[in-house]
Amino acid sequence: MLNQNTYIVSNWKMNGTNALMHDMVKTFIEKTVTKKVTPESAHTNVSWIFCPPASLLTETKRHYPTINLGGQDCHPKRAGAFTGDISALLLKESGVYYVIIGHSERRQHHNESNAIIAEKACMAIECGLIPIICIGESEENYIKGQTLAVLNDQLTESLSGIRQHITQAPFIVAYEPIWAIGTGKTATLTDIEKVHSFLRKQLPDTPLLYGGSVTASNAGDILPIPHVNGVLVGDASLKVDEFKAILEAAGAY
Ligand code: PGA
Repeated sequence: MLNQNTYIVSNWKMNGTNALMHDMVKTFIEKTVTKKVTPESAHTNVSWIFCPPASLLTETKRHYPTINLGGQDCHPKRAGAFTGDISALLLKESGVYYVIIGHSERRQHHNESNAIIAEKACMAIECGLIPIICIGESEENYIKGQTLAVLNDQLTESLSGIRQHITQAPFIVAYEPIWAIGTGKTATLTDIEKVHSFLRKQLPDTPLLYGGSVTASNAGDILPIPHVNGVLVGDASLKVDEFKAILEAAGAY
């Protein structure tokens, strides 16, 4: 059964500082992860998943042990001679529960294929993490009306490992149109609804997120869309006031 949480994922990418981490977490932790679930709030419980750069994970967890931390990537192998990479096992040891996999910036700048993403998702699950698997079409795909076909292929291939080897493990899927990431353009509410209904048919019990230029001014329109269980936020998650307004739109206040 799909739980009724609303997931707000902050993806800091290669941004932020130790000082900003303290500011953000002190400001929001009480309103999110530690929020008491009552029968009335069960449908509006907000889970904030904070994904700072890997160098901030341990410090964050040490100061704020109840936080839901996420990594931004993990290697498909458990350990080995892979300079500069991070394993799911090491993330787990740093107190991380979630990991973003297959973000379009990884697909684009590190040539990550669906097959690699499928391996990473399996490794994340084997190491006890919940993968947040990102899919999204290019602007060209969008203009040519190929969105659903592209998403269908990405989903089938990126989830192939999980489906073959691990049938019951939880995971999250984030729909992030590539042309909407960091551009200030968002998909229309109708497009988001169409995509999420399509994804829901295939993934009845999986939390489904939207990402791509989510801000204080559009979160209140995006979050109530049917089958949208939360948002993945980049830029706006680095600004205290902007992020507070997004949490407000999600019902954390
Ligand atoms: P953005 O990034 O909110 O800055 O568009 C979203 C993402 O990359 O996940």
